[in-house]
Amino acid sequence: MLWRGLLEEYKEYLPVNENTPLISLQEGNTPLLPLKHLSEKLGVELYVKYDGANPTGSFKDRGMVMAVAKAKEDGAEAIMCASTGNTSAAAAAYAAQAKLRCLVVIPDGKIAMGKLAQAVAYGAEIISIEGNFDNALTMVRNLAKQSPITLVNSVNPYRIEGQKTAAFEIVDALGAAPDVLTIPVGNAGNITAYWKGFKEYNDKKQTGLPEMRGFEAEGAAAIVRNEIIDAPETIATAIRIGNPASWDKAVAAANESNGKIDFVTDEEILAAYKLLASEEGVFAEPASAASVAGLIKQIESGEIKKGSRVVSVLTGNGLKDPNTAIDLAPVKPVVLPNEEQTVFDHMLGRVKS
Ligand code: F0G
Repeated sequence: MLWRGLLEEYKEYLPVNENTPLISLQEGNTPLLPLKHLSEKLGVELYVKYDGANPTGSFKDRGMVMAVAKAKEDGAEAIMCASTGNTSAAAAAYAAQAKLRCLVVIPDGKIAMGKLAQAVAYGAEIISIEGNFDNALTMVRNLAKQSPITLVNSVNPYRIEGQKTAAFEIVDALGAAPDVLTIPVGNAGNITAYWKGFKEYNDKKQTGLPEMRGFEAEGAAAIVRNEIIDAPETIATAIRIGNPASWDKAVAAANESNGKIDFVTDEEILAAYKLLASEEGVFAEPASAASVAGLIKQIESGEIKKGSRVVSVLTGNGLKDPNTAIDLAPVKPVVLPNEEQTVFDHMLGRVKS
């Protein structure tokens, strides 16, 4: 049967009523992929929730379909967001479908190329500020107080409602919650949404609760350090955030679930990023790899026990950030003349006979 998108499929768990337009790009229903090689290597039963398979290539579609539907229902004509890239791509796509204006405020030079390309293609009005995500978020929050433009960052509760569906999908696929969920943390909306989703399903169906283990990037680890970071830095631009809006909710999720908010270094992020692609054929953007980097870190520290059933959330598609992939490539393509024999010699010279 045709997948109908999140608003139809999870209607009974979402604030959907007869006036809510059931917009959809067929978001959700993303793969929960068992990783055979890494499971063996790490001594856990590892799955990744590959949310890079969503229509705009990130988990943001889950929350955006809900937030945009409610904006439309309430008669809004325009939506806006601050973004490190993925939120703006999702907002622009769903605004296009719902026929709303979309304004996005992004940190100049600090968003990955694929994400910028999407915002342009979907027709968003793009404002690039000489500041960071936190500055941009402050601006749109203030503007929301004095204008009719609907704010669709994750401070909009409908975003969290939509995003919690990822937890439902995991539980439906596994038959119960995993022992551990590892997840990147930026503005902390997604960890908040997952925890809400796991709790709601558990209340209704006794499906259990995972330990929630969230990972910030070391240079943007505000929650771990318990202080606002004015100039956050990390290669994982998606989570280059120094004052997460859902800070308290992330801490609550970790505490209530016997989990932890921790950080991973850029080196650990890039090592996990390469491992996923080269060992498993899974290409996720750098911020996403923070979940697997964190898993590796906490298996080594003993905080995650061998034999655990773990789901690591891969929040965005690797194609979002082609520059990081190319810059890291140890082997550059060999350029040869357009001559068959020369190409054969080169190719066979590398094959063991
Ligand atoms: N992974 C990716 C790929 C992201 O784009 C983000 C956030 C996160 C993880 C962190 O999720 O903020 O809910 O803790 N991106 C936002 C954006 C900030 O503007 O696209 P979070």
